[in-house]
Amino acid sequence: MSALVTGGAGFVGSNLVDALLSRGMKVTVLDDLSTGREVNLDSAVAAGAEFVHGDVADSTAVRDLFERVRPRVVFHLAAQAQVNDSVNDPAADARVNVLGTIAVLEAARATGVERFIYVSTGGAMYGEAGVYPTPETALIRPESPYGASKFAAESYVSMYVELHGLSTYTVRLANVYGPRQVPHSEGGVVAIFCERALAGHTAQINGDGEQTRDFVEVSDVVAALLLAGDSSVIGSCNIGRGEETSINELVKTLGTLVPDGLEIKYGPSRGGEVRRSVLDPAKAFDDFGWRAEVALHEGLSKTLDHFR
Ligand SMILES: NC(=O)c1ccc[n+]([C@@H]2O[C@H](COP(=O)([O-])OP(=O)(O)OC[C@H]3O[C@@H](n4cnc5c(N)ncnc54)[C@H](O)[C@@H]3O)[C@@H](O)[C@H]2O)c1
Repeated sequence: MSALVTGGAGFVGSNLVDALLSRGMKVTVLDDLSTGREVNLDSAVAAGAEFVHGDVADSTAVRDLFERVRPRVVFHLAAQAQVNDSVNDPAADARVNVLGTIAVLEAARATGVERFIYVSTGGAMYGEAGVYPTPETALIRPESPYGASKFAAESYVSMYVELHGLSTYTVRLANVYGPRQVPHSEGGVVAIFCERALAGHTAQINGDGEQTRDFVEVSDVVAALLLAGDSSVIGSCNIGRGEETSINELVKTLGTLVPDGLEIKYGPSRGGEVRRSVLDPAKAFDDFGWRAEVALHEGLSKTLDHFR
């Protein structure tokens, strides 16, 4: 069985590619390396994966690639995923996240793809939700062009079910952390603090540190993507631990995992940051039996090993 992973040179994508290969699948990666790194694919390419350097918003090139490869399942992760960049240049964000998604959907339906998994965001979708942990039925109110473009893309993904009979499913991720994470990603705070902890530097917390996030380890996310790909359920779900962790708690746990502890200082809070974010993952269990397995301290210790 063959899979095509857009954004497969990135943090989450490259971890997914490794898992697909270890299942014996033929894997093709489409990535423009804007934030992804070719080195993330070294072992995958050695194991037979094909890497294609290209832009998801180039509809002709995407269509040509799908016609050549004829993937049965598509995992669409390629995205402009930086909230600040989306604020500074919303049109560039929409080009990749909306037009790029349309290009991939069009190529998928034209070449008879059997299953299409779209990777979206929970953190940037619900804003100050008011209900915690937040279910998928909560009001969608993105607070950045990034959240808006991911939501627009979700609408196209679900529309293609009725319009073209494409079997699609959207997973909305909480704050993902783990090996290969880069500091600029949505859950980038873990990568930043791991680097500082290992270098013996002070970590700066923006604001009072009582803001909360739902940290989910990347191997749990990969497991969810594989299950979503295997299933034929149509729809969407949250992927998170359903556990709220404050930045103060995160730093405290990290401090216990490095020999000299982690010193912290407090800086000004960042404007526009959501105060509480935690996703209700119950639907992922109902839809395809997924539940997070990796506890925070275990995932942090694995991530520290990677950064070492
Ligand atoms: N990491 C998180 O905490 C998190 C949370 C919610 C949602 N997500 C979503 O998960 C997906 C993967 O994110 P990530 O954290 O691995 O980030 P990442 O930046 O490591 O991965 C994104 C990948 O897409 C590629 N890309 C960007 N623009 C492209 C284009 N025009 N054409 C082809 N490739 C392009 C990048 O080079 C990169 O490899 C994204 O869709 C993101 O919105 C991530």
